[in-house]
Amino acid sequence: MTPFAKSTLAACALAGLAAAASAGTVEEGAKAYQEICAPCHSTDMRPLDGLHLSRSQWQEQIDRMSGFGADIPSGKVPALLDYLVATHGPAGNGQGGKQTK
Ligand code: HEC
Repeated sequence: MTPFAKSTLAACALAGLAAAASAGTVEEGAKAYQEICAPCHSTDMRPLDGLHLSRSQWQEQIDRMSGFGADIPSGKVPALLDYLVATHGPAGNGQGGKQTK
């Protein structure tokens, strides 16, 4: 599914997150976040940086977002959760990830 060169590049960029979940799914989740969440959640608009939620809490928020009009393909949810927990997990690791600075 992911072209070799592209996934290698992104795997390097996300090396710090790779310990929490496999690099492939975190990378996929980061992309899904950009496509699905970033239009409504950016640095200026409703930033999520300060949030540190567990996987089930993120799941609840994702469900809630559908109610706000977010179009979230269910196939992308597991990768999204991997990414969100890796960057915005309960322990506060990752300091909010890199996508929203
Ligand atoms: C259509 C716009 C839209 C999209 C797309 C969207 N959201 Fe939201 N989100 C909102 C709005 C509006 C709020 C604020 C309302 C509220 O919290 O009750 C919000 C609030 C949140 C909150 C609560 C913030 C807080 O400080 O408590 C979380 C967490 C969240 N969104 C996560 C996500 C994630 C993860 C995605 C991608 C899967 C996403 N959102 C996609 C509109 C959106």
